[in-house]
Amino acid sequence: MKVLVIGAGAREHAIITWLLADESVSSVVAAPGNAGIAAIVETVPVDVTDAEAIGALAVSLEAGLVVIGPEVPLVAGAADAVRARGIACFGPSAEAAQLEGSKAFAKQVMAEAGVPTAMARVCTTIGDVASALDQFGAPHVVKDDGLAAGKGVVVTSSRDEALAHASECLAKGGGARVVIEEYLDGPEVSLFAITDGTTVLPLQPAQDFKRVGDGDAGPNTGGMGAYSPLPWAPADLVADVTARVLQPVVDAMARRGTPFVGLLYAGLAMTSRGVRVIEFNARFGDPETQVVLENLRSPLGTVLLAAAEGRLAQVGPLQWEPGFAVTVVIAAEGYPASPRTGGIISGLEAAAEVVGVDVFHAGTTVADDGIAASGGRVLSVTARGESLVQARERAYAAVDLIRLEGSHHRRDIAAKASQA
Ligand code: AMP
Ligand code: GLY
Repeated sequence: MKVLVIGAGAREHAIITWLLADESVSSVVAAPGNAGIAAIVETVPVDVTDAEAIGALAVSLEAGLVVIGPEVPLVAGAADAVRARGIACFGPSAEAAQLEGSKAFAKQVMAEAGVPTAMARVCTTIGDVASALDQFGAPHVVKDDGLAAGKGVVVTSSRDEALAHASECLAKGGGARVVIEEYLDGPEVSLFAITDGTTVLPLQPAQDFKRVGDGDAGPNTGGMGAYSPLPWAPADLVADVTARVLQPVVDAMARRGTPFVGLLYAGLAMTSRGVRVIEFNARFGDPETQVVLENLRSPLGTVLLAAAEGRLAQVGPLQWEPGFAVTVVIAAEGYPASPRTGGIISGLEAAAEVVGVDVFHAGTTVADDGIAASGGRVLSVTARGESLVQARERAYAAVDLIRLEGSHHRRDIAAKASQA
C-alpha cells in the first residue's frame, strides 16, 4: 500500500517513521513535508488549505490511503475530497471536524452525549461576554469559537484582558462568536483514540507542556514537549474516558449522520470533581504524537487503513511496548510571538546517534549551507527509555548536541512525573 501523508510538522515526521516500519506499507509520499521528512520519503508540494488539490494529488499518486495530519485541511474538507475520489482516508469529514473547528459545536455535541465539560456560554456581543465573565468569575477563560492556530484561548485573572481578547475575536465580524467558560483546575491529559465512526481504540495517554517557559511560565504555545504514558494517572483512566467521553461522542456524531472517522483527541482536565473535557481536536496532537507512537507496537498503517475502511472492530486493542517516551521541542528565537527563521542547525547527526533517540523535524527546510529553521517549533527531540528518568536523560543528551543560534527549549519536560 502507498500512503500519502498531508502535513509538514514533527507529528507527520513521526507518523511517517511508524508507517515505514509497517510491512503492509510499500511507500510513503508526504505533502508538503519538511527537511527531515524529505530525508526519508519523497515529498511533493501542496497547498494544505486546498481540499480539491489534495484529492487530485491522491489520485495522481495512486495512493491507497491518505492520512491528513493538520486541522486546516480537515476543516477545509480534504478528507471529503479524497473519499469522493474512492480513496481511503484517515481523517474526519469537514462536518465531523467541526468538533475542533467550532468550540460551540463541540459543546453542543458534548451536551447531547452527556460528556462532562466546563460550563460555558456562547456569546456574540461584548455585553453577553461581560455578563458571562461575571457569572463564572475569575480566572476567566475566553475562547475564539473558530480555528486560531493555538492563539484562540486566553486564560487570565484580569477581567480587562479577558474583555480585550473577546473584543478582538468578535471584531472579526461575519457571525464571530466567543465561548466564555468556567475555569478547570488540575493536571491536563491528552488522550487520543483511533475510530472508524463506530469502534473506538484508545491510545496511551500523554501530557503536553503548553507554556513556553520552565515551570509553566509565559504565553501558550503549540506545545513545548510531552511524555507518555503517565505514571501518576489512575489505572482506569483510559477505560473511564473511553466509556464516558470518547465512545459517547463517536456515537453522538454517528447519530447525527456525520460519523467521525480518524483521530479523536480529548484534551482533559483532571479536576478535583473528576475528569472534564477542555476541548476536542480532530487530529493527532503535536507534540504528543511523537511520544505516543514511540511506544506503539501495533502496525500503524494497518490500523489507520482499517479505521478508514470501517473495519476497526477486527483490529482489536492496540499493543504497546513497555517503557516511556519523552519529547523536547527546540523552538526558534522569538517563538511564539515572532520566531526568527533562517538559522542553520548543527549537531543533528550526533543527536540522532544517542541511544533510543529520534529527532523529528517540525519547521525545517534545506538551505544552501545546511538545514535551516523555517518555523517557530523547529525540532521535536524524542527518546524512549525503560523509565521516564532514562527517556529524559536520553532526550536531553540529544538536545544538548544540537545548535541553533538563539533557539530555546524547556528543561523541565517530564521532570516532575519522573520523580514520582
Ligand atoms: P485549547 O486551545 O482549547 O487547547 O486551550 C489551550 C489551553 O488553555 C488548554 O490546554 C488549557 O491549558 C487552557 N484552557 C482551556 N480551557 C480551559 C478551562 N476551561 N480552564 C482552564 N484552562 C483552560
Ligand atoms: N499539543 C496540542 C495540540 O496538538 O493541539
